[in-house]
Amino acid sequence: MSKLNLAIIYGGTSPEREVSLASGKAAIEALDTSRYNLFEYDPKEGLGKLVANAPTLDVALILLHGSPGEDGTVQGLLDLLKIPYQGAGVLGSAIAMDKPLSKTLYKEAGIPTPKAAYIHKGDVVNAFDITQDLGLPLFVKPACGGSSVGMSRVTSTQELEDAIALAHTYDELVIVESFIDGIELTCGVLGNTELEALPIIEIIPEGESTFFDYTAKYTPGATTEICPARIEKSVSDRVMHLAQKAHKALHLKGYSRTDFILKRDGNLFALETNTIPGMTSTSLLPRAARTAGYTFTTLLDRLIELALEG
Ligand SMILES: Nc1ncnc2c1ncn2[C@@H]1O[C@H](COP(=O)(O)OP(=O)(O)O)[C@@H](O)[C@H]1O
Ligand SMILES: [Mg+2]
Repeated sequence: MSKLNLAIIYGGTSPEREVSLASGKAAIEALDTSRYNLFEYDPKEGLGKLVANAPTLDVALILLHGSPGEDGTVQGLLDLLKIPYQGAGVLGSAIAMDKPLSKTLYKEAGIPTPKAAYIHKGDVVNAFDITQDLGLPLFVKPACGGSSVGMSRVTSTQELEDAIALAHTYDELVIVESFIDGIELTCGVLGNTELEALPIIEIIPEGESTFFDYTAKYTPGATTEICPARIEKSVSDRVMHLAQKAHKALHLKGYSRTDFILKRDGNLFALETNTIPGMTSTSLLPRAARTAGYTFTTLLDRLIELALEG
């Protein structure tokens, strides 16, 4: 088999640039160079080089996290350039980047998700009414954020307005969500039409972090991750089923990773679905894939194979 010319697109200009640089570097390290010629592109430096090289490129790995990049914009450019790429297309990427829209589609598909209120920039915030309706604590997040950037856990009515103002610095629309007290789980899915759910990871933030915040996500040792999660088979079957359902409901392809909270009473809630989850060798999706028998290298092969399958 002749070698494929593979574009690796990483870096970018979103608040998650550093994470993307780490994902890109890890992938470059792991990719099998007997199968691929690697060409690197950073949208921060402009995309002219990618456009110029497009006719020679066989496939792309988009390792951009956050907007722009994970949200369908780069996917649209690659569609126009006729370069296949791993993961969700324009529509699925745009939907999954938007937490309110994802929650609407979860509900349509029968996937439980925490109760929420939505606040546009400029809206009058009645903190008392919101806490009456949704209770305390609350999670406040930018509608289209990632990596817990701009997110707060609010424990009193007084803190709510500042938390909303902070989230509004990242997005015009902010979600205020009921806190779900329970075990945090994440479930990866691989596939286009035939879906394979990966073993579930249990996430336990340690130390200063009261939730899976930016520090817990990216500081080595700040979080304990257990794979497979210590839950009963009937519960893990339900999580896997809901992760596959979320993948379909949000029009995703290739792979995805849905975050859940399992309450002690057994109720499960989906928080969000990631279409370009972190891809360093210690990130969650590669970790789950390893438990399923994929090395980081063979996971990347599988994603590229799924990209070429269309
Ligand atoms: N409603 C909620 N109840 C409990 N924890 C939450 C809730 N929403 C978010 N979290 C915590 O915040 C983290 C990040 O939230 P998430 O919605 O997954 O956004 P991001 O795109 O930033 O990962 C979660 O992993 C979880 O630890
Ligand atoms: Mg998340």
